[in-house]
Amino acid sequence: MRKNILITGGAGFIGSHLVRLIVNKYPEYHVFNLDKLTYAGNLSNLTDVENLPNYTFVREDICNFDAIKLIFEENKIDAVIHLAAESHVDRSIEDPFSFAQTNVLGTLSLLQAAKQCWENDFEGKLFYHVSTDEVYGALGRDGFFVETTPYKPHSPYSASKASSDHFVRAFHDTYGLPVVVSNCSNNYGSYQFPEKLIPLFINNIRHNKPLPVYGKGENVRDWLYVEDHARAIDVIFHKGRIGETYNIGGFNEWKNIDLIKVLIKVVDKELGRPEGTSEKLITYVKDRAGHDLRYAIDSSKLKNELGWEPSLQFEEGIEKTVRWYLQNQDWLDNVTNGEYQNYYEKMYKNR
Ligand code: NAD
Ligand code: TYD
Repeated sequence: MRKNILITGGAGFIGSHLVRLIVNKYPEYHVFNLDKLTYAGNLSNLTDVENLPNYTFVREDICNFDAIKLIFEENKIDAVIHLAAESHVDRSIEDPFSFAQTNVLGTLSLLQAAKQCWENDFEGKLFYHVSTDEVYGALGRDGFFVETTPYKPHSPYSASKASSDHFVRAFHDTYGLPVVVSNCSNNYGSYQFPEKLIPLFINNIRHNKPLPVYGKGENVRDWLYVEDHARAIDVIFHKGRIGETYNIGGFNEWKNIDLIKVLIKVVDKELGRPEGTSEKLITYVKDRAGHDLRYAIDSSKLKNELGWEPSLQFEEGIEKTVRWYLQNQDWLDNVTNGEYQNYYEKMYKNR
């Protein structure tokens, strides 16, 4: 059956992996990749699929309700996978308004467009909202986030994502819109903008620049290879139960400083530097405000109900990731010129 799927944020990190997966795996679907192309969106993430007949790029802002409605109508959209967002915690601390604008109001605009265009005939329709584990707040040393963990976001980013999750569920409960939500842990892999820990540090190691570790480096994150996240979205999109939430994670927790040491080892090896050379770049800096101590996802529901499991061990994933950035230094150079230098200066000069 032909499906016209609107994927928002498809030029970003996770979105580009998802678009690639769906257009290649389902030639019978048509994917409309709707993206505003902010600093984080990059069409060069998708050059390998841009000419496929079942793929169309649309440059638009999800907040532009009239334009979104028109796109729904003209293209007979019958499913949405919504990833477009402002996604970086540090930026949200500097500029919370843009997070409320895109993540909350933008999501609301998409929900309202879907509701109006589907005219309450929701048969065969789906609004899939991609969210984060950060909505659950921070864990202590023990325990995991499950789907029923109460929301307790701490950063403007996670507060805006939490709010968008609530709107999605409210549209289901109030209007019967068929929705599904997933909350995933930290992703890593190719095409991630080098403001996030792993690509930022790979880039700095290659330039022999300081590696700014927030606080004591003791915060814990649960890392999942981005292609495994895209596979999970595919499974939930096709088999997930309407109205449900699925947590996605790889049971792969790392204390930041331990992960950074692994990263240094792999990058040094790939660059032909003696083991541990770049450890001298580690620089402890002022902690992030409201820095969540630990995230850890229990993804048993997804495994037990839908049979999804991560495919890659972390060591393998991190080696693949480091190799990709080092083999694609042009990509790194392109996204780190111009505006990125101002960002870096602003974010890190007073730490
Ligand atoms: P990203 O920042 O790499 O990409 C976001 C994309 O959204 C970009 O292409 C950008 O141009 C686009 N965008 C931003 N504002 C827009 C707007 N107003 N209209 C249209 N497009 C707009 O983000 P990512 O890391 O790929 O995350 C994608 C989604 O997954 C987000 O919703 C994020 O909250 C969620 N998520 C991310 C992670 C992670 O580790 N990166 C983990 C769990 C969930
Ligand atoms: P990040 O990649 O920004 O993801 P998130 O904050 O959404 O989990 O950061 C991952 C961890 O790395 C987080 O604990 C903050 C820390 N971190 C640093 O220590 N230094 C940095 O320069 C950055 C960007 C992050």
